[in-house]
Amino acid sequence: MSNYHIKNLEEYFQVYRKSVRDPKTFWDEIGQEHFIWHRKWDRVLSADFKSASVKWYEGAKLNITENCIDRHLRTKGNQTAIIFEPNDPNENAVHISYNELHERVCKFANVLKSQGIQKGDRVCIYLPMIPELAVAILACARIGAIHSVVFAGFSSTALSTRINDSECKIVITADGSYRGAKTIDLKSIVDDALEDCPSVKSVLVVQRINSKISMKVNRDQWLQPLLDIASPDCPPEIMDAEDPLFILYTSGSTGKPKGMVHTTAGYMVYTAFTFKNAFQYRDKDIYWCTADIGWITGHSYIVYGPLANGATTVLFEGVPSYPDFGRFWQIVDKHKVNQFYTAPTAIRALAKQNLAFAEKCDLSSLKVLGSVGEPINEEAWHWYNDNIGRNNSPIIDTWWQTETGGIMISPIPYVTPTKPTYATLPMPGVQPALMDDNGKELVGNQVEGRLCIKFPWPGMARTIWGNHDRYRETYFSAYENMYFTGDGALRDEVGYYRITGRVDDVIIVSGHNLGTAPIEDAVNEHPAVAESAIVGFPHDIKGSALYGFVSLKETGMGRDHENLKKEINQIITEHVGPIAKLDKIQFTSALPKTRSGKIMRRILRKIACNDVANLGDTSTLLNPEVVEEIKSNSL
Ligand code: WT7
Repeated sequence: MSNYHIKNLEEYFQVYRKSVRDPKTFWDEIGQEHFIWHRKWDRVLSADFKSASVKWYEGAKLNITENCIDRHLRTKGNQTAIIFEPNDPNENAVHISYNELHERVCKFANVLKSQGIQKGDRVCIYLPMIPELAVAILACARIGAIHSVVFAGFSSTALSTRINDSECKIVITADGSYRGAKTIDLKSIVDDALEDCPSVKSVLVVQRINSKISMKVNRDQWLQPLLDIASPDCPPEIMDAEDPLFILYTSGSTGKPKGMVHTTAGYMVYTAFTFKNAFQYRDKDIYWCTADIGWITGHSYIVYGPLANGATTVLFEGVPSYPDFGRFWQIVDKHKVNQFYTAPTAIRALAKQNLAFAEKCDLSSLKVLGSVGEPINEEAWHWYNDNIGRNNSPIIDTWWQTETGGIMISPIPYVTPTKPTYATLPMPGVQPALMDDNGKELVGNQVEGRLCIKFPWPGMARTIWGNHDRYRETYFSAYENMYFTGDGALRDEVGYYRITGRVDDVIIVSGHNLGTAPIEDAVNEHPAVAESAIVGFPHDIKGSALYGFVSLKETGMGRDHENLKKEINQIITEHVGPIAKLDKIQFTSALPKTRSGKIMRRILRKIACNDVANLGDTSTLLNPEVVEEIKSNSL
């Protein structure tokens, strides 16, 4: 029996039990079954949750691009690795074979070397969803440079914060990007960001929209001429198992974004294994994940997981609404997509459109439908199941996080019976636990608590770049010997998990994980603002949207509220990005505070959700009278 590919429920339970009984042997065997190693590991695992120190496959030597590309050349050199579907449906799709990918990655890697980039250097990638993004990532991994991809929807301030945090030496960007009918001037965002980034010595620019941009002498260069003269031969840098592969920033409930560090061997094994099983990927299948590579979903399940399995992965530049709301289904039809992976927010937006968009397309190629990023509500689940899967493709509701590297809880399609809104069962090697408020584990079924993981898994992040203490405190201090996820969950009568949502100050808007603190910081920058508090409220497409309670300084009191709202959202766009704009802004004379001066968000959350019948205990408030005011003016 191969543990690497689970094919029925009995096998799942067998493999799962083994993975819990003897995790080391389990992951040892998975590591042996596949992959090119230049040296095998001395020790599968050494871990200590107290100090937040975890190492997998210690002593092993490898290069992940050799496993994602070179390993397939003999058998699949001419098979398509990446299908690029451009924003404009009239522009031809591009099929990049494994041979071509190999050449492009090697050339790009040599360009990076020619710019002085070496093993361990940080490379910031700020690119739209074009093939160069995947190639740039792999080129970094080829030479052992650490990539830090920043989602190209982030503002210049967000970009410079991330560049400075990890002291990137170089930025790879494009002249601009297409987004539906619009173009976005990426290069000028980079220029603004770099005003304030002393570590960056050079910028490589991909030509995508052929716009006129300014190039800074001695800093900026077009990529293509450098690629044209680069050698197609670049031997892989041999890395240690625990060498960092990449940094990816995620919002915390407080403070600046956390640069989650993923390392080489464990991440590779985990994404490869979970991709194969969660999607039941078979040779020659066409797989499409609609996420942006700027998020972990794209890293793990557009690039690394699929390529490690020799898959064909679709990379889509555009948006679901352009040229019309049928675009996703047209692409499924055009490329005969077998596995389709998207977010509940997209499903809800598409479910609002005329069904004819989907009905017009041949969706019979679909075998698996994935969902990720936030809880999928029952209505969206059924719409997806009935109209896209046509009752014939299991939905896998995959729960995981930037920090977990790969899928943690998910049905295995055609193996695990699905249940609407349930992520169902843990992947092999994943040991979930639900904790009560007193820090006790809830055993048995039909319980609800805080979701923790009680044993290490290979894909987990190892640290926060430059701040291991914060890593330990955030994830390993809430419960002894447990990784705390920040989510709440329940376990039903058969042991299926349902994720109920964040239990901290992170709000998921359209699948984007947003910490409230940085947005409040941005709002507070406005000269008229004294203080602000941001909470989430339910939104029928975005899942959650942002509601800001803002109190003004005396000097701001006379200002026109509509103008102020626009200015506040403008500041947010500049500091965080347009995804963090507030849907509702309520001006108030003060915010409800505890005697120790903490804003009582619990009350604001209830008001924003229109759940004011029972606001709970307000006796500890310093200023209970403002609650009445806020309640009666709520939006
Ligand atoms: C948070 C992590 C992992 C890829 C995308 C998001 C929420 C994610 C689900 C799901 C319910 C989910 C959790 C998690 N989440 N998937 N299937 N059901 N909630 O990565 O930005 O790190 O966000 O997204 O709250 O903690 P991320």
